[in-house]
Amino acid sequence: MSINQQIAILGAGNLGEAIAKGFSKNFGTEHIILTRRHLSKLDHMKSEGFETTSDNQEAASKATYIFLCVQPKQLVNVLKGIEPVLDANKHVLVSTITGVSLEVIQGYLKDEFAIIRAMPNTAAAISESMTCICGNELSATHLPKVEEMFKTLGETLIIEERLMKAATVLAASGIAFFLRYIRAATQGGIQLGFEAEEAQKIAMQTARGAASLLVEGNAHPEREIDKVTTPMGCTIAGLNEMEHQGLSSALIKGIVASFEKINRITE
Ligand SMILES: NC(=O)c1ccc[n+]([C@@H]2O[C@H](COP(=O)([O-])OP(=O)(O)OC[C@H]3O[C@@H](n4cnc5c(N)ncnc54)[C@H](OP(=O)(O)O)[C@@H]3O)[C@@H](O)[C@H]2O)c1
Repeated sequence: MSINQQIAILGAGNLGEAIAKGFSKNFGTEHIILTRRHLSKLDHMKSEGFETTSDNQEAASKATYIFLCVQPKQLVNVLKGIEPVLDANKHVLVSTITGVSLEVIQGYLKDEFAIIRAMPNTAAAISESMTCICGNELSATHLPKVEEMFKTLGETLIIEERLMKAATVLAASGIAFFLRYIRAATQGGIQLGFEAEEAQKIAMQTARGAASLLVEGNAHPEREIDKVTTPMGCTIAGLNEMEHQGLSSALIKGIVASFEKINRITE
């Protein structure tokens, strides 16, 4: 995919940088402008060819797609700051901000804008994000283009806005959940005699392989599990012990706890 328009990423922190790095592989750094207040923290991005500035207005006025990647509490200031240069006929606002609805974002602005919410994760930097997307009515004609942009960062799914918080837990927090599994498997491997690096390599590739079996084989997890659980074998012994200790239950409870928390902090 190529792009003619400019992309401004306002608030290039962890996620904004990840998106910028992912986009740059497809669009080139010349189409991407990054902002944050502590500009020196973007020096490494500047040296890679990205335009950087601490002036959100300047970035917004040069861009068509304005990505809002700041923390929720910083959003109002950023929107009020760029509003004088916003043009409803030109700009498309794309918010990655957790728990801030399309209606709330629109409520901060006088003119009606095409607004899209996207929930990617930090694997965007290596084009392996899972990005859930929804938009308001005015964004309908822009949604396919923005989805195409996010497809360059990994997989996408257009969802109803009511599911955005659940998407945050499953996809964005999900990165941490899967990484903790890999860390725990690594610790188990060390106890069995591997060096830490070896154990992590085995755990990482095995996790990737398990996911790829489902993705590429369009398979169901239980079918793939049945294939590796020999009757009376070591895999079923380990798996059943994990279940006795509450593995599935702990994961489901963790996901629900995360969802309850996101509902409390974004009410
Ligand atoms: N991290 C994730 O995996 C993830 C996934 C999905 C969604 N999100 C959402 O994405 C947003 C960003 O998350 P994050 O983890 O990237 O947070 P972060 O690392 O704190 O990034 C936010 C950035 O915004 C900058 N900023 C603050 N005020 C600004 C302003 N007025 N103008 C320009 N830049 C400003 C900050 O830098 P300065 O202090 O230098 O200005 C900071 O680097 C959050 O709303 C989060 O909920 C995050």
